[in-house]
Amino acid sequence: MSVVERTVVADPRAALRADVLAGLAHRPRRLPSKYFYDARGSALFEAITVQPEYYLTRVERELLARHIGAISAAVGPRAHVVEYGSGSGVKTECLLDALEAPAAYTPVEISGAALDDCVARLRLRFPRLDMLPLQADFTGPLTLRRLSSAARRLVFFPGSTLGNFDDAEALALLRAMAATLGTDGLALVGIDLVKDPAIIEAAYNDAAGVTAAFTLNLLARINRELGADFDLAGFAHQARYVAARERIETRLVSLRPQAVRVAGQRFEFSAGQDILVEYSHKYRDARFTALAAAAGLEVAGAWGGAAEGFGLRLLRRRAPAG
Ligand code: AVI
Repeated sequence: MSVVERTVVADPRAALRADVLAGLAHRPRRLPSKYFYDARGSALFEAITVQPEYYLTRVERELLARHIGAISAAVGPRAHVVEYGSGSGVKTECLLDALEAPAAYTPVEISGAALDDCVARLRLRFPRLDMLPLQADFTGPLTLRRLSSAARRLVFFPGSTLGNFDDAEALALLRAMAATLGTDGLALVGIDLVKDPAIIEAAYNDAAGVTAAFTLNLLARINRELGADFDLAGFAHQARYVAARERIETRLVSLRPQAVRVAGQRFEFSAGQDILVEYSHKYRDARFTALAAAAGLEVAGAWGGAAEGFGLRLLRRRAPAG
């Protein structure tokens, strides 16, 4: 049996309350996208990944399947695979299957339930692989056991989740990742690439309305966990591609003047007033390379480009100058 290592997550309800109250008092109003992922939000995200318009997951899986031989050769034997998030496992299975004698697998996930699910599923598929789950926030520095059985660490960060962070946060995350890699580690990162805005916008406005339900679920979560009284029918999902910033900006827009109570505080909305809830950045290689360089990383391998509209990039620490 693997034992889940847990870093202390100080009172998650108090953190949600503080973030929501601060975000609603802020102008423009905003809420952190990390709060999308309660149990229903995670299920809705899984449903998004199979919508015909949401190309990201499909294309990334295809890229991984097509180039897994080259990726495995670049990583080499006995890697300790450290995945940021625990996802649906399909991409992870493809990677673990192809790597030569992986030493261990560590999903890093804030939700204990998601972590348990992931480990239970993967243990059936890879019964001999050492599972070392870590319940922690991967945006910060991680304390991982140094394994004598491992030749190097491989951080796996698929899905273009990096794009959900603003530039300063993405830089901080990549710096923490560089520290986690150690001197000879590698990171395999999925990034969605700049392309025709119509294709990008469609991915965040699927015809079945799954993304809209996913966005609105944030308000349902706040109602349930903070005793708020958001009327979900009084807000609409809006996802627009802002070309100047090369990102999707997702908002919840108030459909009428209304007042909402959250944790004993009252917030007024005029018709059309919105709450910014998510960025999904799209990258150009030059921008991604510069971001990585600022974090002390360099691109050691690249699969997928303009033709696919999505990229897998292998990063390693840059050798110190001189
Ligand atoms: C998890 N993340 C990369 C998704 C994205 O594309 O930004 C989250 C998402 N939001 C709406 N649809 C999907």
